Amino acid sequence: MQVFVKEKTLKKRISYLKSKGKTVGFVPTMGALHDGHMELIKASKKKSDITVCSIFVNPTQFNNKEDLIKYPRTFERDKELLKNEGVDIIFYPTAEVVYPKGLDLSVDIDLEGLDTIWEGEFRPGHFKGVVQVVKRLLDLVDPDYLFMGQKDFQQFTIISMMLKKLKISTELVVVPIHREKSGLAMSSRNVRLTEKFKTKSLVLSRMLRYIKDNYRFDKIDEIRQYALNEIIKEGLKPEYFGIVNGNTLQEVKSRKEKYIIAVVAAWAGEIRLIDNIIISK
Ligand code: PAJ
Repeated sequence: MQVFVKEKTLKKRISYLKSKGKTVGFVPTMGALHDGHMELIKASKKKSDITVCSIFVNPTQFNNKEDLIKYPRTFERDKELLKNEGVDIIFYPTAEVVYPKGLDLSVDIDLEGLDTIWEGEFRPGHFKGVVQVVKRLLDLVDPDYLFMGQKDFQQFTIISMMLKKLKISTELVVVPIHREKSGLAMSSRNVRLTEKFKTKSLVLSRMLRYIKDNYRFDKIDEIRQYALNEIIKEGLKPEYFGIVNGNTLQEVKSRKEKYIIAVVAAWAGEIRLIDNIIISK
Protein backbone atom coordinates (compact mmCIF):
# COMPACT_ATOMS: atom_id res chain seq x y z
CA MET A 1 0.00 0.00 0.00
CA GLN A 2 1.28 3.43 -0.91
CA VAL A 3 0.42 6.77 0.69
CA PHE A 4 0.58 9.89 -1.46
CA VAL A 5 0.27 13.43 -0.21
CA LYS A 6 1.21 15.34 -3.34
CA GLU A 7 -0.68 15.73 -6.62
CA LYS A 8 2.30 14.97 -8.83
CA THR A 9 3.31 11.65 -7.26
CA LEU A 10 -0.29 10.44 -7.10
CA LYS A 11 -0.99 11.28 -10.74
CA LYS A 12 2.25 9.70 -11.89
CA ARG A 13 1.46 6.42 -10.14
CA ILE A 14 -2.11 6.30 -11.38
CA SER A 15 -1.23 7.06 -14.97
CA TYR A 16 1.42 4.33 -14.83
CA LEU A 17 -1.17 1.82 -13.55
CA LYS A 18 -3.67 2.92 -16.18
CA SER A 19 -1.07 2.56 -18.90
CA LYS A 20 -0.81 -1.08 -17.83
CA GLY A 21 -4.55 -1.44 -18.43
CA LYS A 22 -5.62 -1.39 -14.77
CA THR A 23 -9.05 -0.07 -13.80
CA VAL A 24 -9.19 2.33 -10.87
CA GLY A 25 -11.88 2.44 -8.17
CA PHE A 26 -12.04 5.48 -5.91
CA VAL A 27 -13.49 5.84 -2.40
CA PRO A 28 -13.41 9.43 -1.12
CA THR A 29 -13.65 9.78 2.68
CA MET A 30 -12.97 12.19 5.48
CA GLY A 31 -11.29 9.49 7.57
CA ALA A 32 -12.29 8.31 11.05
CA LEU A 33 -13.06 5.13 9.19
CA HIS A 34 -15.58 2.53 10.28
CA ASP A 35 -17.12 -0.62 8.83
CA GLY A 36 -19.46 1.46 6.64
CA HIS A 37 -16.45 2.91 4.81
CA MET A 38 -15.00 -0.58 4.58
CA GLU A 39 -18.07 -1.74 2.65
CA LEU A 40 -17.20 0.86 0.02
CA ILE A 41 -13.62 -0.39 -0.08
CA LYS A 42 -14.84 -3.99 -0.47
CA ALA A 43 -17.16 -2.96 -3.31
CA SER A 44 -14.29 -1.17 -5.03
CA LYS A 45 -11.93 -4.10 -4.63
CA LYS A 46 -14.50 -6.38 -6.19
CA LYS A 47 -15.06 -4.19 -9.24
CA SER A 48 -11.68 -2.54 -9.87
CA ASP A 49 -8.07 -3.66 -10.26
CA ILE A 50 -6.75 -0.83 -8.12
CA THR A 51 -8.49 0.82 -5.17
CA VAL A 52 -7.66 4.38 -4.16
CA CYS A 53 -9.04 5.80 -0.91
CA SER A 54 -8.70 9.49 -0.10
CA ILE A 55 -8.74 10.90 3.40
CA PHE A 56 -9.37 14.61 3.53
CA VAL A 57 -11.50 16.56 6.01
CA ASN A 58 -12.82 19.08 3.53
CA PRO A 59 -13.24 22.49 5.19
CA THR A 60 -15.45 23.92 2.41
CA GLN A 61 -18.33 21.55 3.19
CA PHE A 62 -18.58 22.38 6.90
CA ASN A 63 -21.14 25.08 7.54
CA ASN A 64 -20.46 24.72 11.26
CA LYS A 65 -16.94 25.63 12.36
CA GLU A 66 -17.26 23.70 15.62
CA ASP A 67 -18.14 20.52 13.71
CA LEU A 68 -15.03 20.94 11.54
CA ILE A 69 -12.80 21.39 14.58
CA LYS A 70 -14.34 18.44 16.41
CA TYR A 71 -14.36 16.12 13.40
CA PRO A 72 -12.37 13.03 14.49
CA ARG A 73 -8.95 12.65 12.88
CA THR A 74 -7.43 9.18 13.25
CA PHE A 75 -4.99 8.77 10.37
CA GLU A 76 -2.71 6.09 11.83
CA ARG A 77 -5.66 3.89 12.70
CA ASP A 78 -7.31 4.54 9.33
CA LYS A 79 -4.10 3.56 7.57
CA GLU A 80 -4.01 0.20 9.37
CA LEU A 81 -7.64 -0.51 8.53
CA LEU A 82 -7.09 0.30 4.86
CA LYS A 83 -3.96 -1.81 4.72
CA ASN A 84 -5.79 -4.78 6.23
CA GLU A 85 -8.56 -4.35 3.69
CA GLY A 86 -6.07 -4.46 0.82
CA VAL A 87 -6.30 -0.86 -0.40
CA ASP A 88 -3.60 -0.08 -2.98
CA ILE A 89 -3.29 3.69 -2.61
CA ILE A 90 -4.20 6.18 0.11
CA PHE A 91 -4.39 9.77 -1.02
CA TYR A 92 -3.90 11.94 2.07
CA PRO A 93 -3.54 15.49 0.78
CA THR A 94 -3.17 18.72 2.70
CA ALA A 95 -5.57 21.60 2.09
CA GLU A 96 -2.85 23.29 0.01
CA VAL A 97 -2.75 20.30 -2.33
CA VAL A 98 -6.52 20.16 -2.76
CA TYR A 99 -6.97 23.93 -2.97
CA PRO A 100 -3.76 25.43 -4.32
CA LYS A 101 -3.67 29.22 -4.29
CA GLY A 102 -4.59 30.84 -7.56
CA LEU A 103 -6.50 27.87 -9.00
CA ASP A 104 -10.19 28.50 -9.61
CA LEU A 105 -11.90 25.33 -8.42
CA SER A 106 -15.47 26.54 -8.33
CA VAL A 107 -17.92 24.20 -10.04
CA ASP A 108 -20.60 26.17 -11.76
CA ILE A 109 -23.53 23.85 -12.35
CA ASP A 110 -27.22 24.16 -11.67
CA LEU A 111 -28.11 21.48 -9.15
CA GLU A 112 -31.81 22.14 -9.82
CA GLY A 113 -32.60 22.66 -6.17
CA LEU A 114 -31.21 19.30 -5.04
CA ASP A 115 -28.69 21.16 -2.89
CA THR A 116 -31.07 23.50 -1.07
CA ILE A 117 -33.69 21.15 0.38
CA TRP A 118 -33.42 18.70 3.32
CA GLU A 119 -29.74 18.63 4.30
CA GLY A 120 -29.18 21.73 2.19
CA GLU A 121 -31.74 23.74 4.12
CA PHE A 122 -30.07 23.02 7.44
CA ARG A 123 -26.49 23.04 6.16
CA PRO A 124 -26.32 26.00 3.78
CA GLY A 125 -23.40 25.76 1.36
CA HIS A 126 -22.61 22.18 2.40
CA PHE A 127 -23.29 20.58 -0.98
CA LYS A 128 -21.44 23.30 -2.90
CA GLY A 129 -18.41 22.27 -0.84
CA VAL A 130 -19.03 18.57 -1.47
CA VAL A 131 -19.40 19.09 -5.21
CA GLN A 132 -16.25 21.20 -5.29
CA VAL A 133 -14.11 18.67 -3.42
CA VAL A 134 -15.43 15.59 -5.22
CA LYS A 135 -14.87 17.26 -8.61
CA ARG A 136 -11.34 18.21 -7.60
CA LEU A 137 -10.58 14.72 -6.28
CA LEU A 138 -11.96 13.17 -9.47
CA ASP A 139 -9.64 15.40 -11.50
CA LEU A 140 -6.71 14.23 -9.39
CA VAL A 141 -7.50 10.51 -9.23
CA ASP A 142 -9.26 10.10 -12.60
CA PRO A 143 -11.02 6.87 -11.58
CA ASP A 144 -13.14 4.50 -13.65
CA TYR A 145 -15.50 3.96 -10.71
CA LEU A 146 -16.55 6.16 -7.82
CA PHE A 147 -18.00 4.48 -4.71
CA MET A 148 -20.37 6.36 -2.42
CA GLY A 149 -22.72 5.35 0.39
CA GLN A 150 -26.51 5.36 0.45
CA LYS A 151 -26.08 6.67 3.99
CA ASP A 152 -25.61 10.14 2.47
CA PHE A 153 -28.49 9.76 0.09
CA GLN A 154 -28.70 13.39 -0.98
CA GLN A 155 -24.94 13.56 -1.48
CA PHE A 156 -24.80 10.76 -4.02
CA THR A 157 -27.92 12.04 -5.80
CA ILE A 158 -26.17 15.39 -6.23
CA ILE A 159 -22.87 13.81 -7.30
CA SER A 160 -24.78 11.71 -9.80
CA MET A 161 -26.24 14.90 -11.28
CA MET A 162 -22.81 16.52 -11.30
CA LEU A 163 -21.29 13.62 -13.24
CA LYS A 164 -24.08 13.83 -15.80
CA LYS A 165 -23.96 17.60 -16.20
CA LEU A 166 -20.19 17.76 -16.50
CA LYS A 167 -20.17 14.68 -18.76
CA ILE A 168 -17.66 12.92 -16.53
CA SER A 169 -17.41 9.29 -17.60
CA THR A 170 -16.61 7.88 -14.13
CA GLU A 171 -19.31 5.39 -13.12
CA LEU A 172 -20.96 6.07 -9.76
CA VAL A 173 -21.60 2.97 -7.66
CA VAL A 174 -23.87 3.25 -4.63
CA VAL A 175 -23.28 1.01 -1.61
CA PRO A 176 -26.16 0.25 0.84
CA ILE A 177 -26.13 1.64 4.39
CA HIS A 178 -24.04 -0.40 6.78
CA ARG A 179 -25.54 -0.54 10.27
CA GLU A 180 -24.47 -1.54 13.75
CA LYS A 181 -26.17 -4.72 14.98
CA SER A 182 -28.46 -2.41 16.94
CA GLY A 183 -29.66 -0.81 13.70
CA LEU A 184 -27.81 2.49 14.12
CA ALA A 185 -26.39 3.65 10.77
CA MET A 186 -22.61 3.74 11.09
CA SER A 187 -21.12 7.21 11.06
CA SER A 188 -17.82 8.80 12.03
CA ARG A 189 -19.81 11.01 14.37
CA ASN A 190 -21.19 8.05 16.37
CA VAL A 191 -18.05 7.91 18.52
CA ARG A 192 -19.12 11.26 19.94
CA LEU A 193 -22.52 9.95 21.08
CA THR A 194 -22.95 9.48 24.81
CA GLU A 195 -24.11 6.01 25.94
CA LYS A 196 -27.53 7.47 26.67
CA PHE A 197 -27.92 8.94 23.20
CA LYS A 198 -26.45 5.88 21.53
CA THR A 199 -29.48 3.96 22.78
CA LYS A 200 -31.96 6.76 22.15
CA SER A 201 -30.68 7.19 18.58
CA LEU A 202 -31.95 3.72 17.71
CA VAL A 203 -35.35 5.34 17.31
CA LEU A 204 -34.27 6.54 13.85
CA SER A 205 -33.61 3.14 12.30
CA ARG A 206 -36.52 1.55 14.20
CA MET A 207 -38.94 4.21 13.01
CA LEU A 208 -37.68 4.01 9.38
CA ARG A 209 -38.03 0.23 9.37
CA TYR A 210 -41.56 0.48 10.73
CA ILE A 211 -42.48 3.00 8.05
CA LYS A 212 -41.06 0.84 5.27
CA ASP A 213 -43.09 -2.11 6.51
CA ASN A 214 -46.27 -0.08 6.91
CA TYR A 215 -46.01 2.45 4.08
CA ARG A 216 -49.25 3.54 2.46
CA PHE A 217 -49.36 6.57 0.19
CA ASP A 218 -52.72 7.81 1.52
CA LYS A 219 -51.29 7.98 5.03
CA ILE A 220 -48.29 10.19 4.37
CA ASP A 221 -49.34 12.97 6.75
CA GLU A 222 -49.96 10.42 9.49
CA ILE A 223 -46.61 8.78 8.82
CA ARG A 224 -44.80 12.12 9.10
CA GLN A 225 -46.53 12.86 12.38
CA TYR A 226 -45.71 9.38 13.67
CA ALA A 227 -42.04 9.76 12.72
CA LEU A 228 -41.65 13.16 14.37
CA ASN A 229 -43.48 12.03 17.52
CA GLU A 230 -41.31 8.94 17.89
CA ILE A 231 -38.15 11.02 17.59
CA ILE A 232 -39.30 13.63 20.08
CA LYS A 233 -40.51 10.96 22.53
CA GLU A 234 -36.93 9.61 22.70
CA GLY A 235 -35.54 13.05 23.49
CA LEU A 236 -33.95 13.67 20.09
CA LYS A 237 -34.61 16.89 18.18
CA PRO A 238 -35.83 16.25 14.64
CA GLU A 239 -34.69 18.58 11.89
CA TYR A 240 -36.59 17.06 9.03
CA PHE A 241 -38.44 13.95 7.98
CA GLY A 242 -39.64 13.40 4.43
CA ILE A 243 -40.86 10.76 2.06
CA VAL A 244 -39.30 11.71 -1.23
CA ASN A 245 -38.77 10.76 -4.82
CA GLY A 246 -35.21 9.43 -4.97
CA ASN A 247 -34.38 11.32 -8.18
CA THR A 248 -35.88 14.74 -7.54
CA LEU A 249 -35.80 14.65 -3.70
CA GLN A 250 -39.22 16.30 -3.79
CA GLU A 251 -41.91 14.91 -1.48
CA VAL A 252 -43.85 12.19 -3.26
CA LYS A 253 -47.05 13.37 -4.86
CA SER A 254 -48.47 10.20 -6.27
CA ARG A 255 -48.64 6.55 -5.35
CA LYS A 256 -47.40 5.80 -8.87
CA GLU A 257 -43.93 7.15 -8.18
CA LYS A 258 -41.43 4.33 -8.24
CA TYR A 259 -38.31 5.32 -6.37
CA ILE A 260 -39.42 6.33 -2.86
CA ILE A 261 -37.12 7.06 0.08
CA ALA A 262 -37.79 8.16 3.66
CA VAL A 263 -35.13 10.61 4.86
CA VAL A 264 -34.52 11.92 8.36
CA ALA A 265 -32.14 14.16 10.31
CA ALA A 266 -32.17 14.71 14.06
CA TRP A 267 -29.96 15.94 16.87
CA ALA A 268 -29.00 13.44 19.55
CA GLY A 269 -27.67 15.84 22.13
CA GLU A 270 -24.76 17.60 20.45
CA ILE A 271 -24.55 15.17 17.56
CA ARG A 272 -26.43 15.50 14.32
CA LEU A 273 -27.50 12.19 12.80
CA ILE A 274 -28.97 11.36 9.41
CA ASP A 275 -30.54 8.16 8.16
CA ASN A 276 -32.78 6.94 5.35
CA ILE A 277 -34.51 3.88 4.01
CA ILE A 278 -35.52 2.90 0.50
CA ILE A 279 -39.25 2.20 0.62
CA SER A 280 -39.62 1.17 -3.00
CA LYS A 281 -37.25 0.96 -5.97
P1 PAJ B 1 -17.48 10.49 4.87
O1 PAJ B 1 -18.54 10.94 5.79
O2 PAJ B 1 -16.15 10.07 5.42
O3 PAJ B 1 -18.08 9.30 4.03
C1 PAJ B 1 -17.34 8.72 3.00
C2 PAJ B 1 -18.26 7.77 2.24
O4 PAJ B 1 -18.67 6.72 3.12
C3 PAJ B 1 -19.55 8.46 1.76
O5 PAJ B 1 -19.83 8.06 0.43
C4 PAJ B 1 -20.59 7.96 2.74
O6 PAJ B 1 -21.90 7.92 2.21
C5 PAJ B 1 -20.06 6.56 3.03
N1 PAJ B 1 -20.61 6.05 4.29
C6 PAJ B 1 -20.57 6.65 5.51
N2 PAJ B 1 -21.22 5.90 6.43
C7 PAJ B 1 -21.69 4.82 5.77
C8 PAJ B 1 -22.46 3.67 6.15
N3 PAJ B 1 -22.87 3.50 7.40
N4 PAJ B 1 -22.75 2.75 5.21
C9 PAJ B 1 -22.34 2.91 3.92
N5 PAJ B 1 -21.60 3.97 3.49
C10 PAJ B 1 -21.29 4.90 4.40
O7 PAJ B 1 -19.19 11.71 2.75
C11 PAJ B 1 -18.08 12.21 2.96
O8 PAJ B 1 -17.17 11.63 3.79
C12 PAJ B 1 -17.64 13.48 2.28
O9 PAJ B 1 -18.73 14.30 2.04
C13 PAJ B 1 -16.85 13.23 0.97
C14 PAJ B 1 -17.71 12.54 -0.09
C15 PAJ B 1 -15.58 12.41 1.24
C16 PAJ B 1 -16.41 14.60 0.38
O10 PAJ B 1 -15.63 15.30 1.29
